[in-house]
Amino acid sequence: MVSRAGSFRFGIIGCGCIGREHINNIALLDSATVVAVADSFEGSRKACCDLLHQLGMMETRILEDYRELLQMQDLDGVIVATPNHHHIHVIRDAFATPGIKGLMVEKPLCTTMEDCFEVLQLVAQHPEVVFWVGMEYRYIPSIDRLITQVHSGAIGTPKMLSIREHRFPFLQKVGNWNRFTSNTGGTLVEKCCHFFDLMLHIMEAKPLRIMASGAQDVNHIDEVYDGRQSDILDNAYVVIEFEGGGRACMDICMFAEASRHQEEIACVGTTGKIEAFAPAHGAETDDERLPNFIIGTAPFGEKRKISDEPPPPIRPQEMHVAIDERLMKAGHHCGATYYELEVFVSAVRQQQKAHVDAIDGMLAVALGLAAHKAIDEMRIVSFSEMGVDDWWGRRHGALTASADVNENAHKKASLALGKTGSSQKLLEMQKDLPMDGEKQTQVDGWELSMRGQRQPSK
Ligand SMILES: NC(=O)c1ccc[n+]([C@@H]2O[C@H](COP(=O)([O-])OP(=O)(O)OC[C@H]3O[C@@H](n4cnc5c(N)ncnc54)[C@H](O)[C@@H]3O)[C@@H](O)[C@H]2O)c1
Repeated sequence: MVSRAGSFRFGIIGCGCIGREHINNIALLDSATVVAVADSFEGSRKACCDLLHQLGMMETRILEDYRELLQMQDLDGVIVATPNHHHIHVIRDAFATPGIKGLMVEKPLCTTMEDCFEVLQLVAQHPEVVFWVGMEYRYIPSIDRLITQVHSGAIGTPKMLSIREHRFPFLQKVGNWNRFTSNTGGTLVEKCCHFFDLMLHIMEAKPLRIMASGAQDVNHIDEVYDGRQSDILDNAYVVIEFEGGGRACMDICMFAEASRHQEEIACVGTTGKIEAFAPAHGAETDDERLPNFIIGTAPFGEKRKISDEPPPPIRPQEMHVAIDERLMKAGHHCGATYYELEVFVSAVRQQQKAHVDAIDGMLAVALGLAAHKAIDEMRIVSFSEMGVDDWWGRRHGALTASADVNENAHKKASLALGKTGSSQKLLEMQKDLPMDGEKQTQVDGWELSMRGQRQPSK
């Protein structure tokens, strides 16, 4: 057994694909260990046991009933990684158990608005619990970089955000739970809640209207389980209009294995454009030759002069935000799981607010369900229809209470929310970026260059 005195003690409920990714990443964290896991499926318990032994965690309790794990009094944090429709059951039981300090629930928070609202009530009744929703994509290094740069004002006011995921079909899961909308909430909830969370986080404005088109055209169409045919949408476009004039577009295709990047994000502001890319989730190495972060800013700021000739091209800066090879091998999220766990541990230890809280989780589900509604009912859906206004108002107050806002509403909201941290950090982030190929450590810890990387703590 590896000596882990004073370690942060994790319990993990659901030890399938992502539960085991968490274990691999906990093993890389400084001073953290897994003291118990629970899974109702013998195959997952066996695979988990093998992994724990490989990692030197011989004393981890392996349980069948997750309620037994919740009763353990010596846990610092519990991760819920069971199927989407099961999250609500674990959350209810967890809040009914005294002594829980930190609870991280994998995305999506739940599969229905009713369940999400119930969770919000439970969270409000238990301020002593740090409640976190697992939105790993915020922590993918190149995407983290995009977020901090947009929030620092590097491209002026963000106006257009495009998020594209072109990838392989849904994988096989224990009991094939992910083949049915009733279990997942639908593809736009199950998969795309990540992207809706990114949109909300990056744009920092309230969604007003949702338009969408999508279908199940290629994948799983011949798959039948217990007499039920799979009903999982495999491609869609979703367009969202935000208060203050911003808009975002999501493009998901799940039969596009032969793609250069799995995720491609482009944000255009009033004075520039930033792009971030993430590799296919099967990639185990970081290809440093490929730029994964590109920023171009207009030297004239917002003072454009339009003439009768095309303007000379402005070359953007192409960079590579590197990912440590150990983190690439520890999962399928380009190091994001490691960084997310690192901040979760710190928040629980210091009793701080969650980065991604229950309201964030609920809003991402609401956008996914609204997009499904737009497709099913072939109409534009208002975000208010999802019953979110009260919670939005509680978080953002009067700033966004009215839809009748002027052009500066976005800027005001961003400042009020203060999501990017201290004003010192904002000033630092506005410093010049490195030239192509130059290596520079930024204030957020990332080294930008063709070869730099932020090291895990061990
Ligand atoms: N954040 C991410 O990027 C990410 C990635 C993958 C999955 N997820 C989410 O994580 C969750 C799990 O996904 P997965 O891919 O690991 O699925 P999976 O099917 O591989 O694993 C789920 C595990 O939960 C177990 N389980 C089911 N019912 C249980 C119960 N009552 N008690 C205990 N264990 C039970 C299953 O036996 C299985 O081992 C889902 O909510 C999924 O959306 C998130």
